[in-house]
Order: sequence, then structure tokens, then C-alpha cells
Amino acid sequence: MRTWDSEQVGMEGDRQLVGTGKAAAAVGVNPATLWRWERDGHVAAETRTVGGQLRWNIDDLRRQIEAITDTPPTTGPNDVPAGGSEVVGGWDVTHGVGLTALIVAAARAEEAKRPDALAVDRFAAGFVQAAEPAMALAAVDGPVWSAFVGMMAVRTRALDTLILDATTAGIDQIVVPAAGLDARAYRLPWPSGVTVYEIDQPGVLAFKQRVLSDSGAVPHSRYQPVACDLRHDWPSALHTVGFTSTAPTAWLVEGLLPYLSPEVEADLFARITELSAPGSRIGIETLDLVAADEWMHTTAARGFEAATGCVLAEIWDTRRRAAATDVLREHGWQTRSRELGELGAELGRAPTGPAADMARLAAIVDAQRS
Ligand SMILES: C[S@@+](CC[C@H](N)C(=O)[O-])C[C@H]1O[C@@H](n2cnc3c(N)ncnc32)[C@H](O)[C@@H]1O
Repeated sequence: MRTWDSEQVGMEGDRQLVGTGKAAAAVGVNPATLWRWERDGHVAAETRTVGGQLRWNIDDLRRQIEAITDTPPTTGPNDVPAGGSEVVGGWDVTHGVGLTALIVAAARAEEAKRPDALAVDRFAAGFVQAAEPAMALAAVDGPVWSAFVGMMAVRTRALDTLILDATTAGIDQIVVPAAGLDARAYRLPWPSGVTVYEIDQPGVLAFKQRVLSDSGAVPHSRYQPVACDLRHDWPSALHTVGFTSTAPTAWLVEGLLPYLSPEVEADLFARITELSAPGSRIGIETLDLVAADEWMHTTAARGFEAATGCVLAEIWDTRRRAAATDVLREHGWQTRSRELGELGAELGRAPTGPAADMARLAAIVDAQRS
């Protein structure tokens, strides 16, 4: 490591260098965490000032974080409670539950090609192209994959509408737990003053930011990644980067619940409620776990696995738990739930064939806190 003779943020050759606070904020971790990762040899700073302070190149740091997480997890995604609050070596977008983020991006890329697309995500294809190893998408012209693309399109559109409605009502804090490769911060026409906080594993967010930054994409809101495992203390991580629980928040919980254990899911809703000032709103995709258990053993599920290489039986946790709507009502939210199939019909995309079976599994819950 070469030393650099100023305490200020500056340039090393043509590469911009920043201090630990800025670097940590850019990748969404606490400065103390980044400092500890460096001390323990997980990542290396570009240089050190004569006064001993670390200087970072953010693009390099993102690559290093991706590399740390570039190994398959040895346990199931969310079934074994992780110990401690340190997150080094979560998952990336090519393995296990992380791969599901890439699969959803592939579906959004497919939808974006349609002249009558329900949501045009022009960033989605870039994620699929950048993934290494490349995603083994097979049989993507089959009926099950088409059904899945349709479902993702309806869910994306329904939640786009919900979240933009929330900002029209004056909410300017958006939090997306398990954001994956959702590009809403870059894609939606946010009113000025909105901040989008995205929570996911460090490797997932580092990959996403690298691909977006390489393509020159600029967020349409203030954008703040929060690199944290949802089984850990994510509320503290959120507060550290400027979130306030005194103002109303709009939350998006999309494509997450089936990967959580009953305990982690209960904890998620309790924490969201604690952080939600009156006037907050939440959009959630729920899955009927009894129906999902049956669906996992159907030919359609085999078709999904063949197309995507993702075995849902290995990553869905279908242990029974109280319905999200009941839990939210107990926490004081008013809820409304609609089946994805019903929403699709309203948008001119009534599901048929394998799509109808898949759409019956899922619903979108819209909840408000007064
Ligand atoms: C199916 S993807 C959905 C991503 C995004 N919401 C969307 O709809 O495009 C599931 C996401 O949940 C994230 N996830 C699951 N369990 C998590 C945990 N314990 N901590 C952080 N992220 C988690 C994964 O990393 C992945 O990005």
C-alpha cells in the first residue's frame, strides 16, 4: 500500500479516493464495520495518509465486497440464525437466495421487450449480462417461464403504483428490505426530496451499484444502500445513514417473505412497525404457504427449476406462520389484500394456464398506519 500525503479526499492518478466515512456510506455499511473488515484483511484500502488514515477507491471496494461474497453459503438462506452482527461473506447474485434477485431481473428484462409492457426496467438486462458465472437460463420460451414473467410484471406494476401513490401523499422516505436488483430508485419518476434506502446483502448491493455505475445510470432520488443481513440489526444500520422514524415511511417488501423463517418474518413486521410513524404505508407480496408447498411438487415447479436452475424447495421456508395481514392488523395497520391474478386481470393480463396456478399463490397487501 502506498502512502498519500493529505488527509483530504483526493485523487490517486486518475482515481478518486475518499475517506472511510464516505466509502462506508457509498457501499452501505457502518464506518466501524469497514474499518474492521480492513483490519481483518477482508478488504484493502487503496492507500493510507501519512497520518495513517485509510483512503478508498469506491469501485475497487465494491469489487472486493463482491469477491468476499463470491462463495456459496454453506447453510440454507435464512433458516439458521446467523450469529453476531458482523456480515462478511453473505451471498451474491449467483447463489441460492441471491440468485432469485437475478431471476427476477431476467423476468423484468423479458417484460421490458413487450410493446405493452406493464413496467419497463431498462437496467434489468444489464444485471443479467454482467453476472459471473452467467445465469443458466434454459427453456425461457416455455409456458412456465412466460407465466413467471407475467407474474413479475403484474407485481412490479402494482407496487410501482402503490409506492408512487405514497409519495404523492407526501411520504419522502422509501425503504426496500431485500431490494435485490430492483432498479426503482433509478427507474421511477420520484418527486424531488425522496430518499430510497435499499437493504440487502453487501455482495448483492455491491454488484448492483457496480453494474449501474458502469452503465452511467443516475438515480432519480437520493439513493442510500444499506448493506445488512435482515437477521441482524438493520434498523440501527438504517438510522446511521439518515433514516428517521419520526417521519412516515413507505416500505416495499417484494419477493422476500418465502425466504424468511417464521421468527425472522415476525421480527421484520415488528421492527417495521416500530420504525413507522403515523401515515406510513407498506406494500407486501405475500405467498400462500399451503398452496406453495403443493405447487413445489408440480410439473410447473419442475419447469421453473429447469428454466432458471433455482430449486425453490431448497430456499423457500414454508413452515406455517400467522398471515402477514393478521400480524399487521395486530400491529395497528389497516390492510387490503388482492390476489395477483385479480390485479393481472385488471391490467389486461389475466393469467391463464400455468400462470393461473402460480398467480393464485401470491397476493399484494397494501397497508397503512394511522
Ligand atoms: C426474489 S429476490 C427479490 C428482490 C427484489 N425485492 C425484487 O423483487 O426484485 C430476494 C432478495 O431477498 C434478499 N434476501 C433474502 N434474505 C435476506 C436476508 N436475510 N438479508 C438480506 N437480504 C435478504 C436476497 O439477497 C434477494 O436479493
